[in-house]
Amino acid sequence: MPSASPLIVTLDGPAGVGKSSVAARLAGELGLAFLDTGAMFRAAAFTLGEGAWDWTQGILQQKLGDFEFTLRGSGRATELLLNGQPLPEAIRSEQTGQWASQLAVVPSVRAYMKMAQIFLGQTTPLVAEGRDMGSVVFPGAQFKFFLDADPEERARRRCRQLEAQGQSADFAAILAGICKRDDQDRNRSIAPMKPAEGALVVDTTHINEDETLALVLGVVRGH
Ligand code: DC
Repeated sequence: MPSASPLIVTLDGPAGVGKSSVAARLAGELGLAFLDTGAMFRAAAFTLGEGAWDWTQGILQQKLGDFEFTLRGSGRATELLLNGQPLPEAIRSEQTGQWASQLAVVPSVRAYMKMAQIFLGQTTPLVAEGRDMGSVVFPGAQFKFFLDADPEERARRRCRQLEAQGQSADFAAILAGICKRDDQDRNRSIAPMKPAEGALVVDTTHINEDETLALVLGVVRGH
């Protein structure tokens, strides 16, 4: 008899919706590892640099062949490592997010990431967060969610987050960046961002992070 596959919970949604925070807390509550797949695309974009999306598929394949992503720990303390090293804080910049979104349309990059993510999910029970976790990478996941919120609300959340870190925040520029990324992520031909079949769509525009977490956790725990 085949052994049961590890538990996978998928959480997809657009930039700035707060998926990472909810996913990390959910993983903590459930005792699973947390896979931030946006961080994988960001790390690739940061490492390869601006313009990598214009390289040939062969060169990209060769460069990505040197990448190995691994997970260490679980819950909120889960660490995603690239070739054994923690990811630099610089991958969190708006610019790296834009680069990641541009790199994410390239077929060889998507193929590599899908393979690496499936590999991680084969060995580790996960809360996997991204754009295509429930639709493409883990279509057989036991629980699937799609978090959404109005772009203005997402821009406000991002501004609050930056201000809390002592950084300045330009609302108009952040909103424009969010809308540009939404457009790129939704309209690409491979693995476009959309709610997976069977996913519960949660509009978080008018609910806070604690309420979102409680809702998602309630579904997974079956009440
Ligand atoms: O979630 P994030 O903002 O860190 O993601 C950065 C970019 O990476 C996002 O704009 C699109 C891409 N991405 C993707 O295409 N597929 C995923 N599963 C996760 C991220």
